[in-house]
Amino acid sequence: MKAIRGATTILKDSGDEIKAGVKELLEKIKTVNNLSDENIICIMFSNTSDIRSYYPAKAAREAGFFNCALFSSLEPEIDGALKLCIRVMVLAEIDNEPKQVYLNGAENLRKDISKRLNIAIDGPAGSGKSTVSKIIAAKLNLLYLDTGAMYRACALACIRSNVDCSNEEKVKNILKDVEIDVKYDAVRNVGGAQITYLNGEDVSDKIRTPEISMQASIVSAHEFVRVKMVEIQRRIAANNSCVLDGRDIGTNVLPDADFKFYLNASDKVRAERRTAENRAKGINQPFDEVLDEIKRRDKQDKTRKIAPLIKAENAIEVDTGSMNADEVASYILMLIQKGI
Ligand code: DC
Repeated sequence: MKAIRGATTILKDSGDEIKAGVKELLEKIKTVNNLSDENIICIMFSNTSDIRSYYPAKAAREAGFFNCALFSSLEPEIDGALKLCIRVMVLAEIDNEPKQVYLNGAENLRKDISKRLNIAIDGPAGSGKSTVSKIIAAKLNLLYLDTGAMYRACALACIRSNVDCSNEEKVKNILKDVEIDVKYDAVRNVGGAQITYLNGEDVSDKIRTPEISMQASIVSAHEFVRVKMVEIQRRIAANNSCVLDGRDIGTNVLPDADFKFYLNASDKVRAERRTAENRAKGINQPFDEVLDEIKRRDKQDKTRKIAPLIKAENAIEVDTGSMNADEVASYILMLIQKGI
């Protein structure tokens, strides 16, 4: 007798989601292990405590697994644990080595056996990229890489050295010795937060000003800067399953990303969002000024020579104008779950 392990995540706590998740997981386990119903002795589930609507064991029975013993149990609530997760252990009479099956967000639980997943989310300022990316990363238990923060840290380094961000030579001189790094604190990253370091200093909050937004757009146009940042981004994406948000992820950083989305909204909507965000941080910049800056930044980002902001041909465009961040994230998650 062998034990076959597996897990999956579902999108929400509903009977239909639980039934579909259990069916998908068990059928995959059956297929990859070449199991017949007679081989299966028992199936044991454990699920996270945010799943309450239906017993996975009942869902298994309804999915046709009724020749074996079925059992469900509840896991303790653990901070930072994967959400909406169903784990399973199937005991079966097989001769081959058992093949484990980890699906959806649970893929990330077993980085050793699962394929890396990279999701590219591009779009202009205020399109909702970062909020939506954080939700998706948290739901799928993936890393969230905010690539804009890295260009922002470059801009901060130049400003601190009194270097004009449009002066390529001077920027290069400053940035060649500067160390930009991102790290993930297990607790802070539950909500998707990335900690951005400039020469070892945590600058995550200092880079969130209107001045840095504008200067980051200017500094990011230089080839030297982009080569240096893209190298770091590709290294992180090669070693981790992650959601990356930026301007050139789908076109340049990861042209082979598994999923590509391009978020957009009207200038007015984006400026309204940015004005409200600023206000929440105590920055009282008038709407007209924010709108003007957004338009200037779009123009700079879209017309620069290297890796300009443009929708990748195979990216799915999502107009976020009439949806809130949760709605956009649910829509994108639904497309990801379906494999698009
Ligand atoms: O996403 P953000 O507002 O934090 O980005 C700040 C600037 O950085 C943006 O105006 C252009 C630049 N950027 C870029 O050129 N490429 C990226 N992948 C991300 C940001």
